[in-house]
Parts: sequence; C-alpha cells; structure tokens
Amino acid sequence: MEVVIFRDEEQVAERAADLLVRMLSVKPRAVFGLATGSTPIVLYRQLIERNRKGEVSFSGVTSFNLDEYLGIAPGDPQSYRSFMDREFFDHVDIDKARTHLPSCEPGDNPQLVGPRYEAMIRKAGGIDLQILGIGQNGHIGFNEPSSSLVSRTRVKTLTPRTMQDNSRLFDPGEIQPRLAITMGIGTIMDARSILLLATGERKAGAVAAMVEGAVSAMCPASILQMHERVTVLIDEPAASKLKNREYYERAARENRALKERFGEFYADG
Ligand code: F6R
Repeated sequence: MEVVIFRDEEQVAERAADLLVRMLSVKPRAVFGLATGSTPIVLYRQLIERNRKGEVSFSGVTSFNLDEYLGIAPGDPQSYRSFMDREFFDHVDIDKARTHLPSCEPGDNPQLVGPRYEAMIRKAGGIDLQILGIGQNGHIGFNEPSSSLVSRTRVKTLTPRTMQDNSRLFDPGEIQPRLAITMGIGTIMDARSILLLATGERKAGAVAAMVEGAVSAMCPASILQMHERVTVLIDEPAASKLKNREYYERAARENRALKERFGEFYADG
C-alpha cells in the first residue's frame, strides 16, 4: 500500500487525475471503477477541465460505479446515476452507453442485479483502476462494517452512521434510502489497481484504521492491505492520525524516484 500525503484536496485530486490520464495514455479503452460522494468531486472537476483542454479523452472508457441506492429511480436527482451525469459524464466525451451503475429498474428483482453487474464487469475485461472514497466508519462502496471481506455485488442495509453522514445531502422531507446495491469487497479486490482518496479531518480515524489497523470486517477498507496495487492519496487533515507518517513520506519520495527512472507502474506494495 502506497500512502501519499498532500497539502489539500486540490493536490490530492491533481495527483489522482494525473494517474487516470497516464493510464488512458497507455490504455485508451481502460475500464474504470468510479465512486460518488463529496471526495471525488474535485477529481471529476479536474478531469472535466483536462478533457475540455483536449489533454485527455474518455471516448474509449467503460465505467462501473461502486453503488446505487435501492428504491430511487435512476432519473431521480438523488440517484447516483444523476450524480455521475451531473458531476462528470455530462461534461466529458465519455459514451454514456458504456457507463454503468448497479441500478435496480422498477420491476427488477434486486437480488439479481448484483450477479448481472458482476457478469457485465467480467465481460468488459475487469476493472483496470478502481477509484474509492472511504466512509467515516471505514466502509468502501456501501460495504458497511461486518460486511464479508469476500462479498460480491449485492443489496446492503446502510448503518445508522452512514445514514447520518449522508443526511447532509438530503433536504428535509426528502426520503433517504436505507438500502443500496454495492459492489462487494471481493469485487473491489478484483480490480487490477486501486486508488483511494480521503480528505478532511473527519476521515482521519478511518484512514488510520485502514492503513495501520488489523485487517477486519469491522473496518472494510483494511482489506486493501491484502491488495497488491493500492495507492492511498490523502490530505494533511486525513493523515493526522497516522503513526508512521514519516516512513510513508520517505517511501513516496523513493517510489517517485524509481518511477522516474524505471517507468510509471512501479509501486511500493
Ligand atoms: C460512494 C461510496 C462511498 C463513499 C464514502 C465517502 O460511491 O461508495 O463509499 O466513497 O461514503 O463519501 P464522501 O466522499 O462523501 O465522504
């Protein structure tokens, strides 16, 4: 796991955008796993800007989002489909027919959505790069604490903590869903590389548990310790509870030097 610490969320997003753009220069038809939430919005803005300037094209990209609420129509402004259209897809040259979310259409059996989504990911050749945020309770996707560490895409019940964290995004009187369909932890772990972004002091506890705690279903993100290619990009406040910070900074410098000398895809596991 490579942990890289930046001054602020703009710098985190800039490095993440660099990595995505570089991957697309090597593999223009890359398959991305995408996330919603507040954290990746700055990244999406930077990618939109680079696309507008002609520095990158998403025309060959296929994408699979981590999760979608259950019980909200894809056209509802609160759906993650609407979020992705609004914050990213509508502003870049991506082919929307190749952007996927684990949505449950009216009349669909939600239990079948997961296996169908998994089959689509396999058919696309698997995920090259998965973008993740992290919940204050350590969740990735909507894999809440106690989720099976080998789970696949399925329906999950959101914890009261997640409901409370996300209530800021719902107006009074709006119905906040209590269920979601999320890629499983096993699904996320199948991605060939993973980029986790975390910003702000409220993420410091979860980041420390993920990087330095024991691997445990009570902190689902801690499973990333078992993945070969994970880069964690965080800002100063999110890094504030890490004990081995000096080591991560030194390792990040060494890795940068190695990458400059031997190529882009060297990473300190
Ligand atoms: C979003 C997702 C979640 C968020 C996490 C952090 O698709 O899967 O795991 O990444 O809840 O959300 P923010 O970025 O809003 O703090």
